[in-house]
Amino acid sequence: MKKLLFAAVAVVLVAGTVFAGPGADNKGGATFVGIAMPETHVLRWTKDGASLKKFAEAKGFRAQDQYANADQNVQNTQIQNFLTQGAKAIIIGCVNDGVAAAVADAARDKVTVIAYDRIIPNSADYDYYITFNNFKVGQLQGQGIERGLNLTSATAAAPKYITLFAGSPTDGNAFFFYDGAMSVLNPYVESGALIVVGPYPKTSKDTANFQRIATENWQAAVAKTRMENLLNGDAKDVTLDAVLAPNDTLARAIIEACKADAKYAGKLPVVTGQDAEAASAASIKNGEQYMTVFKDTSKLAEAAILLAEAAVKGTTPNIPGAVLASSIGLESIGDTGKKVVRAYLLDPVIIYRENWKDPVNAGFYTQEEINQNNLK
Ligand code: GAL
Repeated sequence: MKKLLFAAVAVVLVAGTVFAGPGADNKGGATFVGIAMPETHVLRWTKDGASLKKFAEAKGFRAQDQYANADQNVQNTQIQNFLTQGAKAIIIGCVNDGVAAAVADAARDKVTVIAYDRIIPNSADYDYYITFNNFKVGQLQGQGIERGLNLTSATAAAPKYITLFAGSPTDGNAFFFYDGAMSVLNPYVESGALIVVGPYPKTSKDTANFQRIATENWQAAVAKTRMENLLNGDAKDVTLDAVLAPNDTLARAIIEACKADAKYAGKLPVVTGQDAEAASAASIKNGEQYMTVFKDTSKLAEAAILLAEAAVKGTTPNIPGAVLASSIGLESIGDTGKKVVRAYLLDPVIIYRENWKDPVNAGFYTQEEINQNNLK
């Protein structure tokens, strides 16, 4: 009798493993998808992780989201753990290029890796990247300044003054954001209508000057200190009309520094941002931050799961709402430095005070965020 029972259990276990679908994890269960996000000090990543998990589970995958506190070694360990658990796809928002070692391990295990919103640099070990059109994100920031300063009517006789910030030099996106913004602003600098106070890299290829305006790991405290130093240094004897801030976390830190300077009491510079964070939506609604860029990360997460599903099944991805970077002349967005991967781009949306409520109407914020920031 015991032998019969043992045999029956063995059959069930084998069947469970064999018929659980492609890429079943080593527990014989549903396909396991690992979600590796870089940090939580920039709030959007907690939204991304939660959305990715929600859409993965809606597809019948088992999913786990992990956050690396901006420490690539921590994230690499998290990725190794996903591999040990039998993940068949790992979606990675990396911290820096140190992630390539973990991606190589995933490739050896024939596990699909998808670079999520940040390119995985210096790696030939993956095939897919999904993000927003980051060059356009920068262009929208540049257009925000162009609109806010009415630059089309500005002249060298009555120039406007701007100082420049960039994102983390460890983040490939930061270079596209900056170059997109400067593609709009450089002509005004060349005409003399716009004067840059502080370092002026014309493009991110001016590495020395780009490093001087970059913000390590997107840390708000780093941006705030640099802005305070500018206000007491290079910008002491001018009144800034605008600050190019690469995302909302840094924008709010820069605004805090300006509000502590009597020169800007009641008249803040035009300050840009991106991510449509709830606190920045409130700041824009209240006339402080000038604009942000709404990147509906729930759409990005849904698209990333569709991409993971196709990659695991070996079918051709069909991602509604995304375009292939190569089809719009932006193939370079998928250039890892060792390979050009297929980069899918979603469209960002500019947010001003006039349409600050668009992300609310899109269901982007939790009720708690709406209440906490009075986004009614
Ligand atoms: C970038 C991302 C931005 C912003 C920034 C800070 O990679 O594209 O949306 O979130 O990181 O984390």
